[in-house]
Amino acid sequence: MNFQLTEEQEMIRKMVRDFSEKEVGPSAAERDEHERFDRAIFDQMGELGLTGIPWPEKYGGIGADYVSYVIAVEELSRVDASIGVTLSAHISLAGWPIYKFGTEEQKERFLRPLAEGRKLGAYGLTESGSGSDAAGMRTTAKRDGSDYVLDGSKIFITNAGEAEIYVVFALTDPESKHKGCSAFIVEKGMPGFSMGKKESKLGIRSSPTLEIIFDGCRVPKENLLGKEGEGFKIAMMTLDGGRNGIAAQAVGIAQGALDASIEYAKERKQFGKPIGAQQAISFKIAEMATKVEASRLLTYQAAWRESEGLSYGKESAMSKLFAGDSAMEVTTEAVQVFGGYGYTKEYPVERYMRDAKITQIYEGTNEIQRLVISKMLLK
Ligand code: CAA
Repeated sequence: MNFQLTEEQEMIRKMVRDFSEKEVGPSAAERDEHERFDRAIFDQMGELGLTGIPWPEKYGGIGADYVSYVIAVEELSRVDASIGVTLSAHISLAGWPIYKFGTEEQKERFLRPLAEGRKLGAYGLTESGSGSDAAGMRTTAKRDGSDYVLDGSKIFITNAGEAEIYVVFALTDPESKHKGCSAFIVEKGMPGFSMGKKESKLGIRSSPTLEIIFDGCRVPKENLLGKEGEGFKIAMMTLDGGRNGIAAQAVGIAQGALDASIEYAKERKQFGKPIGAQQAISFKIAEMATKVEASRLLTYQAAWRESEGLSYGKESAMSKLFAGDSAMEVTTEAVQVFGGYGYTKEYPVERYMRDAKITQIYEGTNEIQRLVISKMLLK
């Protein structure tokens, strides 16, 4: 067993850390305050190759592994969880199903521009009436000549509005429930495809979250992803990897909060000595660091399993569950370490705490992760 990162993984960490600290961190609080997505940051990520980390060079990627990918999401999230999820949804939720289930033509048309960062990706599964019960969706896709006609809407879509390529799920055979679900690639600008309400959120405020609406939206049959009826399986398999991307986001948020807490605990003096020299705070820091490290190990392990071609669904659900819950605990403690200052916008820890909350909710609530893990253990 070897826990050492490879030279390539170390290089990617260093590159993303430098980029994050120089180009992302300085504007994170302002973008959070104004709920402002900055496309220029995504463009820069494309230039660095981050938008195509795990995809082969022949599709415009850099051919690195999934450990490198989660390291990138972690490092971005260490300064700005909104940018972390932009990349995670782009790679895990839009790129991955096209890479795994797309035809060569679809990979050339859609995966390449995603990998090269020329286009941004999104994923549409959740509906107003179907969140945890994803199979309860109502959006339909009726075959008409050489097109499918989509009707319905999806909510809480990360990257929506900004994205050009959407992997969405609709019922081609509503009677058959999840077995009648199919996946489609829908492009921005297609007639009948429009954006609905933009959410104003507690955290990850500079990551756009919108409703997407299909009103007689004609999607050519060439944009069917996989086979008719395979959609639910594609949606679930996509989330198997996506959940580990969210775990990486949680690790990054928690690490950012821990770093800030350590720095503050060394500087802030009370009762004549740094608060870090007092056990109430030093023990907190020890526990926070232990949770971050355990979260990271679970996350890297799941990513390594995927890179090695081993099963990783259970491990991803575990990493998301543990890292998400830990991020919430660690960031809440970080605010406590900062005391009254932590509750203000003068320091970044209140943002970390707000951002951490979503990692317990999206890509399957942590209650759903417990369901997924226990089903696999007890089947
Ligand atoms: N891989 C492959 N196939 C899978 C699978 C997986 N991981 N999980 C389930 N399936 C298959 C099953 O084998 C079964 O196939 P058959 O019908 O052929 O036997 C079929 O799917 C149905 O399985 P279940 O009976 O287990 O399905 P269910 O209706 O009970 O639901 C669930 C299971 C795990 C609760 C699922 O609905 C789920 O994951 N819910 C949470 C939804 C979710 O995570 N949403 C996230 C939205 S995206 C997002 O949040 C992104 C963002 O903002 C960034």
